[in-house]
Amino acid sequence: MTIAADNIIEVRGLTKRFHGFAAISNVDLDVRRQSIHALIGPNGAGKTTFFNLITKVHQPSGGSIRFNGEDITNEDPARVARRGIVRSFQISAIFPRMTVAENVRIALQRPKGTSFHFWRSESSLSVLEDRVDELLAAVGLEHMRDQTAAGLPYGRKRALEFATTLAVEPELLLLDEPTSGLGTEDVERIAALIRSVSANRTILMVEHNLSIVARLADKITVLARGKILAEGTYAEVSTDPRVIEAYIGGEE
Ligand SMILES: Nc1ncnc2c1ncn2[C@@H]1O[C@H](COP(=O)(O)OP(=O)(O)O)[C@@H](O)[C@H]1O
Ligand SMILES: [Mg+2]
Repeated sequence: MTIAADNIIEVRGLTKRFHGFAAISNVDLDVRRQSIHALIGPNGAGKTTFFNLITKVHQPSGGSIRFNGEDITNEDPARVARRGIVRSFQISAIFPRMTVAENVRIALQRPKGTSFHFWRSESSLSVLEDRVDELLAAVGLEHMRDQTAAGLPYGRKRALEFATTLAVEPELLLLDEPTSGLGTEDVERIAALIRSVSANRTILMVEHNLSIVARLADKITVLARGKILAEGTYAEVSTDPRVIEAYIGGEE
């Protein structure tokens, strides 16, 4: 393995123009394997667009994206999802009339590469049920397994969405504002959850809550107006005058 194998994602010169406007402009970004990497920046900086480029919801106007050393720049969204690049709340929808456990079971049975046939075989049903229980325990919903999803408090719905996302076993998990709209207690729950699921995967997250970013992220990339403004640890970027200017300077 070469040094480059330490990076799960390598983006070079990535550009996305919408009718001539560059939402992402010549961005170079590496994501280290098994790290938590945060993408921050003022509203309109291009964070969601960057996610949409990685998941191939948008085709880049220029540049390249490598995942595990392979060029995925021209692949379609289904192909990159099968590779293990999964955005929370994108593939996974919650079925409100189903129970918590049924939602996770459906997510596990969703076609994905070879696991489709594995989970479908009758003999593997007990394996499937064990996995449902494992995932519910991982997000702290085991005691709510037979409740209807629609009846869950908002923070618990977010946890259920998390479980259905983990069901597809993402190698690279993209989280776009995972704590937005949550109260303090649920923010802490989701933060702990992100930390615990990061053990054997890579997480790239857009997050506005800077105290969460400070606690969770190994590395932070600051975007502003489609370009990288700064990169480093929280201590490094939070004291960078250009970053302070971008946040205070009134884009938001
Ligand atoms: N589909 C689109 N068509 C046109 N403009 C877009 C589209 N998506 C995003 N933009 C523009 O790109 C810029 C970056 O948006 P976005 O990536 O959503 O920023 P962020 O997530 O950092 O708030 C914004 O100016 C936005 O209006
Ligand atoms: Mg956004």
